[in-house]
Amino acid sequence: MNIWDRKYRDFEEYGMDIISSVSVLPEAHNVFVVADAAAVKEITSSRTQFPKPVKLYTVLSYFGGNIVASEGEEWKRYRKIAAPAFSERNNRLVWEETVKIMADLFENVWGDQKVITVDHAVDITLPIALFVIGVAGFGRRMTWQEDSKLSPGHKMTFKEALHNFSLDFFIKLTTPDWLLKLGLTERMKRANLAFQELEQYMLEMIHARRYAEEKEERYDLFSGLLDASEEEFDGEAKLTDRELLGNIFIFLLAGHETTAHTLCFTFGLLALYPEQQEKLYRHIKSVIPDDRLPTYQEMNSLNESIAVFNETLRLFPPVIAVPKYAAEDTTLVTTDSSGNKVVVPIPQGSGVTLSIAGLHYNPRNWEDPYAFKPERFHGDWPRDAFLPFSAGARACLGRRFFETEGIAILTMLVSRYTIEIKEEPEFAGETFEERKERIFHLKGGLTLTPIRMPLVFKRR
Ligand code: HEM
Repeated sequence: MNIWDRKYRDFEEYGMDIISSVSVLPEAHNVFVVADAAAVKEITSSRTQFPKPVKLYTVLSYFGGNIVASEGEEWKRYRKIAAPAFSERNNRLVWEETVKIMADLFENVWGDQKVITVDHAVDITLPIALFVIGVAGFGRRMTWQEDSKLSPGHKMTFKEALHNFSLDFFIKLTTPDWLLKLGLTERMKRANLAFQELEQYMLEMIHARRYAEEKEERYDLFSGLLDASEEEFDGEAKLTDRELLGNIFIFLLAGHETTAHTLCFTFGLLALYPEQQEKLYRHIKSVIPDDRLPTYQEMNSLNESIAVFNETLRLFPPVIAVPKYAAEDTTLVTTDSSGNKVVVPIPQGSGVTLSIAGLHYNPRNWEDPYAFKPERFHGDWPRDAFLPFSAGARACLGRRFFETEGIAILTMLVSRYTIEIKEEPEFAGETFEERKERIFHLKGGLTLTPIRMPLVFKRR
């Protein structure tokens, strides 16, 4: 079953919001795919009954055990140490640094240009997300201008190492080490070096902060993790350096692409629906009428931006499915298309996949589910049917981090520039629907990935 292409269609055809598919692998069990909001709530609230199949995530433990790729007592320990790092002070840092990164983009990169054209919006959104995680995650500030200062003992700057790490992550994880070390292609050489360099930078940072004579007050995630690991367990069972590496890398991985792609989808939707963009602009201007930079205190007043992000995440959830399995024989309850209650037996060991795409396009939860209507997120809306960040004990730890960053970016951009789809002669005759399909032609991957979103930013 292709969860993204099919969205709610298979559930509609079978007349049920829980469907089972039999795996072709001999040792595999049945997999139940769920798009029923109440059943999803039951699954996400019973972590021990429906744990995470960590085997699927082994590849993510390359740098060491971590919060995403673990379960049980190990996960509890990581979560207890990691959660305090996502603090109010960290959110404030995310806001302030994001505002600086955007101001730097407008002043020093886009400068006096009245029209800026990008062939693919991720050329802008990936670096923004990387710079934000660089400073608010790792405590390393980066700028749009190339910084050529190389730290002693390094062959790449921190920015290059982080950038190449993100580009080459999959190559490194899917190629055996001995083959990669041969460095047969430039890409392999670069991947190898980026991983070594980043690891070395991280170990230096751990060392410098653990053994600093005077501790500085810092609110990046990395420092938060280090502090919490030391305080929580009183020096006894603090995270090992390997575990620290594992967890901080997972923040980078979990937060970079998801954020960059969501921003790209948001820009694309605002370009396709100028009336929604105008509404957002007016709202931002009602909160910040002049040209000054937005403050962290103003974030909660910018609720139109949250509605726009929520509607974008409903239509294009970067994580389209969340896997779980049944730890014991159990049942789930759903209703069929005639409204009759149906009890579905779930044998122990079965896979249970939450279809986020199915849930978000389920017409029982969302009227006219294919339409872009941010206003549905004002007032009362079906919270259990909105799951871009998963839910329950294993919900995303970075949700607020993302929202803070996203609102700062949207506020800065939309108040100064309009966003349009780039006009290209080869697509001159296309209809609105064809255009929408073209720019929202996406592929699966680690996260839902835009293939090409050509945009134009015009100074207001
Ligand atoms: C639009 C942005 C984002 C989306 C849609 C998103 C989505 C998700 C989802 C669906 C999960 C559950 C995955 C699973 O069960 O396998 C998750 C977990 C997680 N996310 Fe995010 N995420 C986003 C941004 C971030 C950011 C910015 C960070 C960190 C800086 C982050 C850190 C984490 C962590 C640490 C977990 C694991 C939580 C646990 O298992 O206890 N995420 N995220």
